[in-house]
Amino acid sequence: MADQQRDVIEVLTHDHREVERMFAELDALRGATGETERRRRKDLVDQVTIELVRHSVAEEAEVYPAVKDKVSAEEAERAKHEHAEAEKTMKRLESLDPDDASFDAELATLMQEIREHVAEEEGQMFPHMRQVFSRQELVELGAKVESVKKIAPTRPHPSAPDEPPGDKLLGPVAGLFDRLRDAVSRRGTER
Ligand SMILES: [Fe+2]
Repeated sequence: MADQQRDVIEVLTHDHREVERMFAELDALRGATGETERRRRKDLVDQVTIELVRHSVAEEAEVYPAVKDKVSAEEAERAKHEHAEAEKTMKRLESLDPDDASFDAELATLMQEIREHVAEEEGQMFPHMRQVFSRQELVELGAKVESVKKIAPTRPHPSAPDEPPGDKLLGPVAGLFDRLRDAVSRRGTER
């Protein structure tokens, strides 16, 4: 596969660009009132959420432990804390409809949290990782991250057009984080 030789920094940076692309589209659709745009915004939020869940869990499982050991415990801790904050925002956001008064504010919060996180990783953590890890180690970490991302579903929940929005209150995002974290830790003990 063409992706096999990408190192972990290339993999994660690619994810960041993907998320930013979705954020830019969400920004462009802000204030749009048409039904198609409204649906597109909700879809984009779902997509960005699933991408962020996969990215965050993979970073937490494979990248931050390595960063903690070899680069900086403080940088790893800060990144984990930022993920936890963004996770809370995603959980609040998922029960909201684009028509809800707080949708735009929660989305703006998520964007700001993720943009700061991306700036810190790309500005500090990744350059530090390049100084400390060999190319080979970074490629191996990249493969581990890809394999965690593969066990995650591609959508947060199957689209169920007949269900009223109220049916989502149980929180698929929370379940998604839990299921993926469980799968990652089970995989770890089976080795
Ligand atoms: Fe990241």
